[in-house]
Amino acid sequence: MSDAKPLKRLYIKTYGCQMNVYDSERMADVLAPLGYAVTDRPEGADLVVLNTCHIREKATEKVYSELGQIKLLKQQKADGGGAMMIAVAGCVAQAEGEEIMRRQPAVDLVVGPQAYHQLPELIARTHRARGERLAADFAPEAKFDALAAERRPTGVSAFLTVQEGCDKFCTFCVVPYTRGGEWSRPAADIEAEARALAEKGVREVTMLGQNVNAYAGPDQQAGGGLAGLVRRLAKIPGLDRIRYTTSHPRDMDDELIAAHAEVEALMPYLHLPVQSGADRVLSAMNRAHTAESYVRLVEKIRRARPDIAISGDFIVGFPGEREADFEATLQLVREVGYASAFSFKYSRRPGTPAATMPGQVAEEVKDERLARLLALLDEQAMAFNARQVGRVLPVLFEKVGRHDGQIVGRSPYLQAVHAVAPDRLIGQIVPVRMESSARNSLAGVLELETA
Ligand code: SAH
Ligand code: SF4
Ligand code: F3S
Repeated sequence: MSDAKPLKRLYIKTYGCQMNVYDSERMADVLAPLGYAVTDRPEGADLVVLNTCHIREKATEKVYSELGQIKLLKQQKADGGGAMMIAVAGCVAQAEGEEIMRRQPAVDLVVGPQAYHQLPELIARTHRARGERLAADFAPEAKFDALAAERRPTGVSAFLTVQEGCDKFCTFCVVPYTRGGEWSRPAADIEAEARALAEKGVREVTMLGQNVNAYAGPDQQAGGGLAGLVRRLAKIPGLDRIRYTTSHPRDMDDELIAAHAEVEALMPYLHLPVQSGADRVLSAMNRAHTAESYVRLVEKIRRARPDIAISGDFIVGFPGEREADFEATLQLVREVGYASAFSFKYSRRPGTPAATMPGQVAEEVKDERLARLLALLDEQAMAFNARQVGRVLPVLFEKVGRHDGQIVGRSPYLQAVHAVAPDRLIGQIVPVRMESSARNSLAGVLELETA
């Protein structure tokens, strides 16, 4: 035991989208060889990483208030003769690196989303001298090449980044500025990562990208795209479920729609943000689809896979949005019928074109529209869940539940399902009869005696 490396404690707090969740896991992976082990509390940690999100003003402000708290913990640790290093990673790091260090001098280093493979080196440099504390370049290739192939999946379902960045420049959005241009990982690398995950017991992979269906791997056959990748991963033994997110309506090609009809492992759930149901707003947003083209697209997808659960993102109160435009959004929601959705009040992001557009909408109007939209979407989500009651669905069990004897998993439609069942079923796909439903989950009983 004498040659064991002293254990250092690493606390990572993750904000924002699933890609940040993936990135946080990979940061833990690159730091593990340096002796860092993940802890679930910031108190006493040797390294605290805040993996941040810039998408809305609130998300960004949260980071600064959290930093205020962490700074106190750093002080406490210093008083006890120890040292805590604070790193800010993610999209706020990319967008406001200099400002973070100015506003919160307790921050030791700032690392953008394409530079976290440099963390070990940055930490070493920070130990030597304060100074070179900022790494924010834009070369995802370098990142993926430098990351160790080794992953330590923590469950039966894992995220896998296949594409990063965005060239779409929706006028409200910071992502093209924080994540850079669209870039796809080579399919062979993705397949290797998926195989390694499956060998470690992962049963479900969710492919991630800011525009995942714009995937165009450099070594893909013409027409391969994301559909080609889906078919490739579907052949991996043990990988029973494939999902992907987030897709843009304009990149939803016929091959991908066909894959939904033909590939059994591809789950019947699609997150397809529309943002608004009014064409004049969509045009001002630079979305490149109309309400009608979106509804037609959903119809086409449903012809391929009739039971598919559609989910979406909505923004209310975009500059210039009138009551009639908002009503068009409600109308689109009624036409499509969503299984789940995320809705946001428009948040003005410095540097984006919409921030300086005329007709900024008053906060009270945004609040009122958001409440109406949420009421309709909630009703639809409850109805979608209620429709599953009485059906037998295959559930991938992921973990123990909150109540004794209960385990929790996901239906093919991504609904949380809990059932009274033995722990040993965690990691297995089991038929479950749905008995009751709520807004966010279903309760069921095992259909077969699996004892
Ligand atoms: N690439 C994905 C979305 C990434 S951001 C897509 O194009 O669909 C996730 C969601 O945040 C967006 O779909 C949008 O609904 C919301 N969002 C982005 N910028 C926003 C802003 N400035 N204000 C409010 N919501 C915003
Ligand atoms: Fe943002 Fe639009 Fe790109 Fe999505 S497609 S990340 S909303 S700019
Ligand atoms: Fe947020 Fe960056 Fe994701 S801004 S939503 S963490 S891409």
